[in-house]
Amino acid sequence: MTTPTVYTFFEKATSTWQYVVVDHSTSNAVVVDPVLDYDPNSGTIHTKTADGLVSFIEHNQLRVTRILETHAHADHLTAAQYLKQQLNGDILVCIGQRITVVQKTFAPIYGLDYHSLENLFDVYFNDNEEFDLGFLRCNVMHLPGHTPDHVGYVIGKAVFTGDSIFNPDVGSARADFPGGDAEKLYESMQRLLALPEDYRLYVGHDYPQNRDQTCFATVADQRVKNQHVKLGTPPSDFIQFRKQRDAVLGAPRLLHPALQVNIRAGRLPSPDEHGRIFLRIPVQADLVL
Ligand SMILES: [Fe+2]
Repeated sequence: MTTPTVYTFFEKATSTWQYVVVDHSTSNAVVVDPVLDYDPNSGTIHTKTADGLVSFIEHNQLRVTRILETHAHADHLTAAQYLKQQLNGDILVCIGQRITVVQKTFAPIYGLDYHSLENLFDVYFNDNEEFDLGFLRCNVMHLPGHTPDHVGYVIGKAVFTGDSIFNPDVGSARADFPGGDAEKLYESMQRLLALPEDYRLYVGHDYPQNRDQTCFATVADQRVKNQHVKLGTPPSDFIQFRKQRDAVLGAPRLLHPALQVNIRAGRLPSPDEHGRIFLRIPVQADLVL
């Protein structure tokens, strides 16, 4: 089977794997889950990571046709709009169709009108939708559980799983965000394990304890080694484990900036009349002060 060349870029601050996936016969490329840098202490956005991707793409004279988001990330900001601005050509920013569910959930949390979030992405993929990358056929897999909008992208024998599965010793992602569901995550992981055994599952993050960062494991390896869901793991075991683990996890460090930018497809809120940009922090308090 024809398969793409996959270039991998690890972003250390949020342990995110970014991918540039290339059909070499045409030099057409897609970028999966690019990162926009954000320093929460100073509220500063910068583009060092994304500029690295731009340099690579320009140096190799690649023609980027799409930016593929696996989901609305809660732990990093997407550089989709920045890359679209910086790179030449018509570039489509793509995500799964259920991003609208996530936008409807988070719009009121951040005091936004949902209608202001409509049509901000260029493509809202249906489940199993197909598209071309040069001469390669790509397939969109709905992989809910971590988030309801989550999709994976199957391009040849390479599968970009986002946070639907992690490397075998890391296992799985949390399933406690709004619309998250441990049972659905189990089912999504089983669907990934049912792919042909030589397919590579490229993960959205890696959090190794005692090894270097790795970007993929084969389906064969995941089936026998995934420490949370391997072949034969009963759903009830995973669901119980996941719920217990998630109950003690803190909120992601960049939760609020990430979601407010990511549900806008990588745009910032409009500046005020002085050119200032603000992000909101919802506060829970049973007090009136
Ligand atoms: Fe995520």
